[in-house]
Amino acid sequence: MLGIFDSGIGGLSVLKVLKEKMPQIDVVYFGDIKNAPYGIKTQEELKKLTAKGVEILLKNGAVNILSACNSISTFMILDDLKELSEKSFGIVEMINPTVEQFAKKWVSGAHQNKIMIFATPATIESKTYQNNFKKEGIEIETFAIPDLAGAIEFGSEEKEIEEIVDRAVSKSLEKDFETALLCCTHYPFVKDKFEKAFAKNNKKISIFNPAEAVVNSAIKKFNLNVPSSLRASERSGEAWQSRKNGKIKFLISQDSPTFRQKVKELFNEFEYSIEVI
Ligand code: DGL
Repeated sequence: MLGIFDSGIGGLSVLKVLKEKMPQIDVVYFGDIKNAPYGIKTQEELKKLTAKGVEILLKNGAVNILSACNSISTFMILDDLKELSEKSFGIVEMINPTVEQFAKKWVSGAHQNKIMIFATPATIESKTYQNNFKKEGIEIETFAIPDLAGAIEFGSEEKEIEEIVDRAVSKSLEKDFETALLCCTHYPFVKDKFEKAFAKNNKKISIFNPAEAVVNSAIKKFNLNVPSSLRASERSGEAWQSRKNGKIKFLISQDSPTFRQKVKELFNEFEYSIEVI
């Protein structure tokens, strides 16, 4: 089973893309709402929370983990994952697939626009995006938004969220860029507000959600289109293709009406359960 990890609802934007591509897959999802937002915590605190989250997912049947949280992805690319758990597990996180996709486009000449990363302070402070892009010869700009993920997570009013995005976008435009990467999984839920804010400033900026690249990477790395749980005779394709929708087990560390509402909105057609642990 695939485990997905985020501080709260952000990872649902990645799970949505995964379920559109692979509805058959069974998922256990952990949202650490009690400790959200992650993006304003120290690296030390986040490493501990990452180890705890990994443990919860492994205990609940996950074999592979997709970190649908940029703020902890730094710890998911440690050389020694034993620092997180004694048990072994496969991992796909947000940063490597995103950088790889842009590096490929860069080398081929298909995309050489200046990139701005919008993310939480923790993601920017870890410097992992900056360093990984640099290794590919790409210099990027970054902009941290401390209060946006929390406002989305805890259901702030539309107007308040719009003001946060407006302020961030106007300030970010002091730098020069043509492509904006939404490198916090909460942000795609307010992509329209980013679009509006750029338009207000008369800027044509293309906005990119890394979820697609990350999900493709997980499908490939974990062989998700050929599940090992099926008998060899069934794995030929037809049985798997016609298998009905997989189940989703949501585990949350604190109850949240916003989380329940978002799950209902996005995954109503799937069989799912929500458990507060
Ligand atoms: N959605 C997460 C991320 O991608 C965490 C946001 C937060 O909890 O601050 O960074």
